[in-house]
Amino acid sequence: MRIIRTKDYNDMSRKAANIIGALVVTKPDCVLGLATGSTPVGAYRHLVNAYLEGDLDFSQVKSVNLDEYKGLPRENEQSYYYFMHDHLFRHINIAPKNTHLPDGTEPDSAKACEDYNRVIASMGGVDLQLLGLGHDGHIGFNEPNDEFDKETHCVDLTQMTIEANQRFFNSIDEVPRQAYTMGIATIMRAKCVLMVVSGKDKAQILKDAFFGPITPKVPASVLQLHPNFILVADEDALALV
Ligand code: F6R
Repeated sequence: MRIIRTKDYNDMSRKAANIIGALVVTKPDCVLGLATGSTPVGAYRHLVNAYLEGDLDFSQVKSVNLDEYKGLPRENEQSYYYFMHDHLFRHINIAPKNTHLPDGTEPDSAKACEDYNRVIASMGGVDLQLLGLGHDGHIGFNEPNDEFDKETHCVDLTQMTIEANQRFFNSIDEVPRQAYTMGIATIMRAKCVLMVVSGKDKAQILKDAFFGPITPKVPASVLQLHPNFILVADEDALALV
């Protein structure tokens, strides 16, 4: 595990974007595993700026996203499909056919998950998986559990995650209760895992995840076993370590 300590959110975002950008330059047809949530937004902004300045070319890049709410159509502003287009895809020259998310509109969970496993397998492996860190240690929508869920699966969101995500919806009743997410094994197979963490409110869970025992009760802790895990976190998030 490599820890890159940054002075604040913007510094974290720029450094994470530089790592992703370096991969896009050195491997133009790389497969990027992408994340939503508020933490990666700054990194996406830096990647867009690098593209606009002519430093990055995404024309051959492929992407697979971590997760998607079950039941939200793509045009719903809270769907992760919408988020990715809004924050990244529509600003860069990535080919729409090369971008992939689980199909949140597929009501048959088994089919949605099998289809997505096939998509990920067809990519031939993820070169870099970007992750945020949930307050309860979740990665993707892999919530604390008695075991590590391996491949893409449908999850019931915990009350903590529903409440955390409420800020994006008009009311808590609108927050979907289920989501499709890549599994832990899928995430661990990425050649490089890059996690971005910012803010004092993440300091305790960051400490538990990366300086405590490896346990499915703190899903992110499994990343301690990844051979190429880079944590880019600001001083506030690293305050307890
Ligand atoms: C996003 C995702 C989630 C978030 C996590 C942190 O695709 O899968 O695991 O990374 O909930 O979210 P933020 O960055 O909003 O604190």
